[in-house]
Amino acid sequence: MKINENTLLEGDKVVLVPYNDHHVPRYHEWMKSPELQLLTASEPLSLEQEYEMQRSWREDNDKCTFIILDKQRWSEPAAQEEQCMLGDVNMFLTDPTDLSLAELEIMIAEPSYRGKGLGKEVTCMMLCYGISKLGIQKFEAKIGLDNTVSIAMFKKLHFQELSVCKVFGEVTLGMTVDPSLRTKLLGDMAYVKERQYQRHSSQPTGAGVMTTT
Ligand SMILES: CC(C)(COP(=O)(O)OP(=O)(O)OC[C@H]1O[C@@H](n2cnc3c(N)ncnc32)[C@H](O)[C@@H]1OP(=O)(O)O)[C@@H](O)C(=O)NCCC(=O)NCCS
Repeated sequence: MKINENTLLEGDKVVLVPYNDHHVPRYHEWMKSPELQLLTASEPLSLEQEYEMQRSWREDNDKCTFIILDKQRWSEPAAQEEQCMLGDVNMFLTDPTDLSLAELEIMIAEPSYRGKGLGKEVTCMMLCYGISKLGIQKFEAKIGLDNTVSIAMFKKLHFQELSVCKVFGEVTLGMTVDPSLRTKLLGDMAYVKERQYQRHSSQPTGAGVMTTT
């Protein structure tokens, strides 16, 4: 999706930046992990296929991806962006006849960053971005039945079980954004700053994500 190609979202613990080709080598290394392949139901790709995938996530109108960076590390002036990468988050508009529905996926790829509240913050940032910038009103997440951490996280964020597919071994959780949930979520995340994304630049002053266009 082109809409976020110049967007940087700065949270408390993380910074989200658009998925660009310079992120692909590290992403490709992550996806060699059998654990991550299992947890994210992904097939291993060649490096060339991973570059094609990155281009498709960048160009296609039904996909929106951010790379998750460690904010503390990213704040160090000499830090290379690739060294700050810790995962990715994306939304996929699954139904061309209903652009208010998005499937959400998140991966904290670096194990040492898990269980520290980053997944929750990133997911809330993405929910807010989807609601305020893309007009999403319903979110879904498909999660392996054994992935108790991910299921617990999404349930904590007001997702409810919609269906279980035993054949694929996955559960679909969903959330409809009603007015009170929308107000609470956007209020809770009002501290998130939206900035113009520039690789390797110093960070200029920004405005709240809900107030910029
Ligand atoms: C699933 C994932 C996104 C969660 O992110 P995280 O940063 O590890 O989780 P957080 O620290 O933000 O915790 C969020 C919630 O998850 C649950 N959780 C986190 N760690 C847990 C653990 N070890 N055991 C059980 N529940 C756990 C809790 O409900 C927690 O909320 P709480 O801290 O308020 O109790 C992350 O672990 C991950 O990416 N794992 C590998 C890839 C993956 O499974 N992706 C999801 C595919 S659907």
